This record gives sequence, structure tokens and C-alpha cells, in this order.
Amino acid sequence: MENKVIDESNQGEALLIEDPSHPNGKKLFLESYGCAMNFSDSEIVASILKDKGFSTTQNFFEADVIFVNTCAIREGAEQRVRKRLTEYRKAKKLKPDLIIGVLGCMAERLKSQFLEQEKLVDIVVGPDAYRSLPELIEIAETGQKAVNVLLSKEETYADIAPVRLGSNGVTAFISITRGCDNMCSFCVVPFTRGRERSRDPQTIVNEATDLFNEGYREVTLLGQNVDSYLWTGGGLKKENVSDEELKNATTFSQLLEKVALIHYDLRVRFSTSHPKDMLDDVLHTIAKYENICNYVHLPVQSGNSRILEMMNRGYTREWYLNRIDAIRRIIPDAGISMDIISGFCSETEEEHKDTLSLMETVKYDFGYMFAYSERPKTLAERKLKDDVPVEVKSRRLAEIVELQLKHSAYRTKQGVGKVHKVLVEGTSKKSKEELFGRNSQSTVVVFPKENYKKGDYVNVLVTNCTGGTLIGTAL
Ligand code: SAH
Ligand code: SF4
Ligand code: F3S
Repeated sequence: MENKVIDESNQGEALLIEDPSHPNGKKLFLESYGCAMNFSDSEIVASILKDKGFSTTQNFFEADVIFVNTCAIREGAEQRVRKRLTEYRKAKKLKPDLIIGVLGCMAERLKSQFLEQEKLVDIVVGPDAYRSLPELIEIAETGQKAVNVLLSKEETYADIAPVRLGSNGVTAFISITRGCDNMCSFCVVPFTRGRERSRDPQTIVNEATDLFNEGYREVTLLGQNVDSYLWTGGGLKKENVSDEELKNATTFSQLLEKVALIHYDLRVRFSTSHPKDMLDDVLHTIAKYENICNYVHLPVQSGNSRILEMMNRGYTREWYLNRIDAIRRIIPDAGISMDIISGFCSETEEEHKDTLSLMETVKYDFGYMFAYSERPKTLAERKLKDDVPVEVKSRRLAEIVELQLKHSAYRTKQGVGKVHKVLVEGTSKKSKEELFGRNSQSTVVVFPKENYKKGDYVNVLVTNCTGGTLIGTAL
């Protein structure tokens, strides 16, 4: 894993599926921007359309339908999508009945406004309405515009078997919750993804078991806040869960255990942990099972308690550092990564320095770092002033990134001279003679191929490293 300063360079990528058994002769071009959740949703979309007989293409000029699954997290993410739409315009000119659909978070945020702003768009569909896609396509085929942006309190797509897209056949994502109830003041996700709901644990275990039987060796359980996963027999979390219900409920740590028990050769990862909800029970479960990876992504956002309060994150600097201590105590060799936002409303130079000093204390393995971008409708947009100048946000971000690069190099170096159990994900980008995979801490390890292959577990003695990658030979 590498550090990322996110400038929305998250590439949209054409996603391909195997040809359907009953082709309808129509071709779909599907691409996905944004987070792993969106990517995972595209696998649901692919499944729904494959059932209707669509095949896929990597060339949008060949497509009958173009779907772009969008992200709204920062302004830059939306600008990328708008730019992409101007490229689709060329295809629409050549083929007037081409249908263009905008899916995902930006569709949900803008709703039918999208149709007014971008005349070439035919379909706007939010994250909870993908089951209606075949109908929406039918409407669009008659020349009308089609919108479905209803958010649901129940929808989890639990019964839809995702079609694995762009897959390496080794690692896969499984969504365990949808939506978010946290209302961090900077964040648009609660508006684009709706209320938090958990998915039936049995369907999660079944999906992971199927993946294992198909040869997959790693699953990542996805949720905006995995620690608040709670299954009490219905999706939406109730305000008051009775003691009786709680006794029969499945918590995140119990879910992790269920998935870990499927097979000791199935690695389990999860993202994202929330500092306010990540308690010791989860850490003990991680420590107990060798196949649950020793890696926690624990976004901090800021190292200053006043800013955290304004962000409505629900923890202080001290609480966060106490959680870091708990990780180090219970899982001594854990890899830890973060998300940080620079230049949130009213952040002073001193408060920015608190973020740097927190980083110095934790020395993260890697991180995702962003400049604050104000989002419509959020608490911050309504109540706070986006008053840190752009240049200051960027300079603070650059300082955060520089420090993180130093810490990544430090952490990577600590891995040299040790043996790492690596799950091979594929051939290294740099050389066909080398394989790459990740260790339990999620650091990338590269080593000569010999007779090993994708999906193997290999013990690699690491003898060298670059800033973020370990280099070694198989034992
Ligand atoms: N659910 C996850 C975060 C999902 S969004 C969590 O709570 O940790 C991924 C990251 O994008 C966030 O952690 C945050 O660092 C960043 N982000 C979200 N909204 C942002 C905004 N308005 N401006 C800049 N970065 C933002
Ligand atoms: Fe956004 Fe906060 Fe929910 Fe994460 S926990 S998705 S940052 S509201
Ligand atoms: Fe993900 Fe972007 Fe939506 S980060 S949840 S795709 S706003």
C-alpha cells in the first residue's frame, strides 16, 4: 500500500464481465470512481445487467449504454466526472441512441438537477436504486429521461451475487454495511448513501465461502464504520436494542470471527474502523486469528481536539491515542494507516502542528491525505466558515505528506531482515520475473517468481526496501 495525496486521480477504469449466457446483443461500458464501496456496488450493477443479457466493452464508442459510478466526496471528485462526461459526448454524437447513466454518490447528491446541468445524461440513479436499472434503461430507450434516487432503510443487495470486476482472482471486497449515521460535519456520505444498515451475517459468510471455493484467498469487509456493524435480525439499527435482542445479535467482532473461521487460508481484512467505536473486543479477535490481518485503517482527520469536536468526530486527541495504544498493546506488530484532512474550518497554525505531532507519536505505516473541500448541505457548509485560504491548506497538506513519507520509509525499513508471509496477488508491474503481494500489515512485498503463482502464500525473507515496498526472496 502506498501513501496517497488524493487529488482525485483515482482512475475510473472500464470494468469487464464475462459474456452473459443469454446475450441481448447490447454492450455496456461501466466505469467506477471513488471508494471501494462504489467499486463493490459496480459489481452489483454488473450482476443485475448481466442477468438482463448485457455484455461489456472497454471501448465506450462501442457501447449501447455507458454507466459511470460517481463519487461526491470532494469537489475535485465531481469535476473529474464532469470532465469524463465531455468525452462521452463524442460517442453520443456518433450514436444518438447511446444511453448515458450517472450512478452513485454524485447522482444521489444532484438528483434531477443533473439532467438539467448535463443535457447528455439520460439516467440518474442513486446507490440504493440499482435494482431498478433495467426499467430505467427501458424508459431511456423510449427517449425519456429516467431518475431513481430513492434511498432505502433496508436495501443491502444481500441476495445479489456480485460479478467480480477487474478481479485478480485472489482478493475481493464484501460490503457488510451501507450508509452512515455519523454526520461528521465535513462529510457528504450520509446524504449520498443514506442511513446505516447492516447486512445479514449469514449472507456475508456465504459470499466469503463461495469466494474461497472459487480460489479467492482474501476478503475485505467494507463499511463506512465497520465497528458499528450490528445485526439484530433487521437491517436498520434500532435506537434502543433490548438486552434480549443484543444477546442474539451479531457484532462486528463476532462477524469477523465467523468469516475467519471459514478457512485458515482465507485472509480477512476490513475497512474502515472508526476511532470512536473501535473497542478492545475487535482487537482481541484480530489477535486471536492468524488469518485476520494485523492491519487497522484508523482515520484521525485531525490531531487537535477542538477541530475534532467541530468535525463532529465523537473523539478527542487523547481518546484516539488511547486507541492507538490499545492496538499496539493487543496486536504488537499491527500496521496502522490514517486519513487526514488539512485546513478544516478555522484551523490555526498551532492546531495544524497538533496534527503533525500526533503523526510523530503514531508514525503511521501509510495514509490518505486531503485538503478540506466544502460540500453542499453538510453541517460544516451550513454552520462553519471555510476560511483557511487554499494556499495554506495546500502548504499544510504538503507538510503532512512530507512527514508521512518519512514515517513510511521508517516503518518499511523495520520490515527488512524479517520473514513475511505474503499472499501473492500477481506479477510485479516492474518485472515479469517478479511477483508481488502483501504481508499481514498490508505492505507490498516483491520477490523473484521462481515457481510460485498468484494465490500462493509465500514466506519471503526481506533483504531490502524502497520508501514503501519490501523486497526479498522466497524461503
Ligand atoms: N467512513 C470513513 C471515511 C470515508 S470518506 C471514516 O469515517 O473514516 C474517506 C476520507 O475522505 C475521509 O476519511 C476524509 O479524510 C476524507 N474526506 C471526507 N470528506 C472530505 C471533505 N469534505 N474534504 C476533504 N476530505 C474529505
Ligand atoms: Fe463520512 Fe464520518 Fe460517515 Fe466516515 S464516519 S462516512 S467521514 S460521516
Ligand atoms: Fe465513496 Fe465517494 Fe460515495 S468516497 S461513499 S463514492 S462519495
